[in-house]
Amino acid sequence: MYVCNCNGLREKDVRAVIAEGADHPLEVYERHGCAPRCGRCKPDMQRLIEEARAPLLIAAE
Ligand code: FES
Repeated sequence: MYVCNCNGLREKDVRAVIAEGADHPLEVYERHGCAPRCGRCKPDMQRLIEEARAPLLIAAE
């Protein structure tokens, strides 16, 4: 499934850079050598980042 149609970034591409430490949508674009265009994918990227970080936050409590 594509998260960013403008740049052809799939969910697995986004999850991979999040796993490597990307914690902001702009960092996701940067690590893939692209930049935001329409910006419609930013909320979905932010959601994927928050989903990935949620277990870490629970573990820290
Ligand atoms: S869908 Fe990602 S910048 Fe347009």
